[in-house]
Amino acid sequence: MPYRSAASTETAAASIDWVRQYRHFATHECSQDPLYVAICLAVADSPELLALMQQVPATQARPNLLLAALHERVLAGVAHALADYYPSVGGTRPPDAALPAQLLDFARQQHPALLAHLRGRATQTNEIGRCAVLWPALQRLAALSGRRELALFDFGSSAGLNLGVDRYHYDYGPFQRGARPDPERPRIACRWLGEAPPPPVEFELVARLGVDLAPVDLLDEDGVRWLRACLWPQDRARAQRLDQALALARAAGPAVERHADGLDRLERWLDELPAGVQPVLFNSWVLAYFEPAALARYQARVAELVRARGLAWISAEAAELRPAGLAQPPAVQAVQGGPQQTATLWSLQWREAQALRQRALAWSHAHGQWLQWLDA
Ligand SMILES: C[S@@+](CC[C@H](N)C(=O)[O-])C[C@H]1O[C@@H](n2cnc3c(N)ncnc32)[C@H](O)[C@@H]1O
Repeated sequence: MPYRSAASTETAAASIDWVRQYRHFATHECSQDPLYVAICLAVADSPELLALMQQVPATQARPNLLLAALHERVLAGVAHALADYYPSVGGTRPPDAALPAQLLDFARQQHPALLAHLRGRATQTNEIGRCAVLWPALQRLAALSGRRELALFDFGSSAGLNLGVDRYHYDYGPFQRGARPDPERPRIACRWLGEAPPPPVEFELVARLGVDLAPVDLLDEDGVRWLRACLWPQDRARAQRLDQALALARAAGPAVERHADGLDRLERWLDELPAGVQPVLFNSWVLAYFEPAALARYQARVAELVRARGLAWISAEAAELRPAGLAQPPAVQAVQGGPQQTATLWSLQWREAQALRQRALAWSHAHGQWLQWLDA
């Protein structure tokens, strides 16, 4: 996200117990990443590093903002021994007793840049792993609507990388889908659970547009580096597929616009589409940003567009943000890699015989490592 204005830099409540937050993050949030565990514990033990978090606006008061700020400085090429610990820049040094002192020294050297990030940035990602669920969801929609030409509108699209859903290869283990495998193309591995997959219906994306309050410009190196910095340095596969998706998106040309009211843009976009095309609104991990009243307005406006304009709506959000009137499906199967709280519920709303229909399609891991298909 771009830097916020000074007017919005209301600082976090001093009451936040950052020692507890960082210890909790180390134990529960990033326990699979030894570097981040070590950094979080070092921050928790350092009053000087903890003081940095007093600069964070209340809306961004979460431990991973400092992790991203440090990572951005490392990715920017700052020459310092701390970089030796970061696999994202080729570092191979495992966390050791020297790390806390190196971290403190690095933070002192980079103080102005770190403060600027903490005061002005928000953690922002664009997770193409979610396309492993978007792909069968679009196939299901193509089958239900009988239309093979789809137009995809991504609300809260970040850099717009999920608009490239038809450019990626999906490896579900026993079966493969999507674009043919290619070393230059993201290969997204996803464990398929639950009901059998829908038949592999052919469809074509004939139009695509993303809107975001704070889009990432693919040509802005700082913005793209921040997107990379928000990934964890250990996860090289995720970083590689992000870079591949960025390259494909740059080659395809810009498809994301900045809009304060994305649904206004959606209505105009519907007017521009050729007849016979099935328009699809997609949102993933966006509605959590909405106040309850704004969420209700969004849902009501979308439902009206479904009824009046034949829009289809694929929503991938926390279960409590599902479309009004949709029953919550039974709990997700016990799977490795994500508890129920971070599971995403995928739902589809569409028009059939002039009536609004909706159904739950799938549960998935937040980043698409597994999906549990519900739609028999
Ligand atoms: C967690 S990111 C998810 C990005 C992307 N949908 C994905 O799945 O990777 C949330 C995105 O929603 C955007 N956003 C939040 N509120 C918004 C709004 N009211 N209108 C448009 N975009 C919004 C943020 O700027 C951010 O890019």
